[in-house]
Amino acid sequence: MSQLIVLNGQIVEVEEANVSVLDRANLFGDGLYEVIRCYTGGLFEHGTHVERLLDGAAALGITHDWTRESLESAARRLQAETGIMEGEMYIQLSRGPAVRSHYFPDSQSPTIFITLYPVRPIPPDACTAGTSVITCPDMRHGWCHLKTVNLLSNCLAKEKAHRHGVWEGLMLRGLDRTTLPGSVEEYCDAPGELSSVSPGDKFAGYVTEGASANVFVVKDGRIATPPRENILPGVTRRITLELANRAGYEVKERRVLAEELLVADEVFLTSTVGEIMPVVNIDGHLVGAGEPGPITRRLASMYTERVASAKLRG
Ligand code: PDD
Repeated sequence: MSQLIVLNGQIVEVEEANVSVLDRANLFGDGLYEVIRCYTGGLFEHGTHVERLLDGAAALGITHDWTRESLESAARRLQAETGIMEGEMYIQLSRGPAVRSHYFPDSQSPTIFITLYPVRPIPPDACTAGTSVITCPDMRHGWCHLKTVNLLSNCLAKEKAHRHGVWEGLMLRGLDRTTLPGSVEEYCDAPGELSSVSPGDKFAGYVTEGASANVFVVKDGRIATPPRENILPGVTRRITLELANRAGYEVKERRVLAEELLVADEVFLTSTVGEIMPVVNIDGHLVGAGEPGPITRRLASMYTERVASAKLRG
């Protein structure tokens, strides 16, 4: 496997890609990232991902000279050099190195790097047979709409899921509690928030998203997904909303209560890497009949068609 990456515009071997330990992404998580799926040599929704990165940089005041075009040409060069046809491209843009002080440096020299690796492993039948998830507290900051590299809480949610042998951690806000877990062990060992709740019980809290995916629920043919409030508005989420509208389903962006997860007919995750992935088990409760439902399957097949028909540019 090729170990080439793009660092600040130059293609270099990953071992030679030196970034300062004082980079603010390293010190503070002061940076942004994108993950772009590469299908048969083409970058799916490259422009949309890059736009989100550039919008994020503008929102955070990260000054740089990159444009949509220069990012695309760097991505294409990397793809040509690595020859990876089925992969995930990672772009990280940070405010760059500066002597450590919390406020922003007067002059910024941003760091950008791009990697392209084969797609990370997903359990082989997760998208067809469905996957299991566990719920956990959403302890993140309030600016989750920016795709920042501040991912500690997301990593904790994913680690908890991993330790429980499931795929994703679904994060809940507004939980009725006075203390947060005091250690990673305490956080990860705790059962899912809904494990001792029965369908029909009142339960404080609402779901925001997964550690690295957005979430949708379906009840009586109606689709809902949490609104753009404490979530990353995913590219796959946006396409899924479009497809659902096109298919004529009733679909709403609205707050989704945690207790709705227990009575939903269908639940699914959306992300660049996992695409549309059915959830069949939440905290040990079966979702619907415990198998992917018809609306999820329909949207997943529309998504596959959408990828196949996209004018992918390698
Ligand atoms: N993550 N929510 C979060 C917190 C995410 O990290 C992601 C994607 C999504 C889905 O966004 P999109 O559809 O644009 O991929 C939602 C990427 C894949 C990652 O961190 O690897």
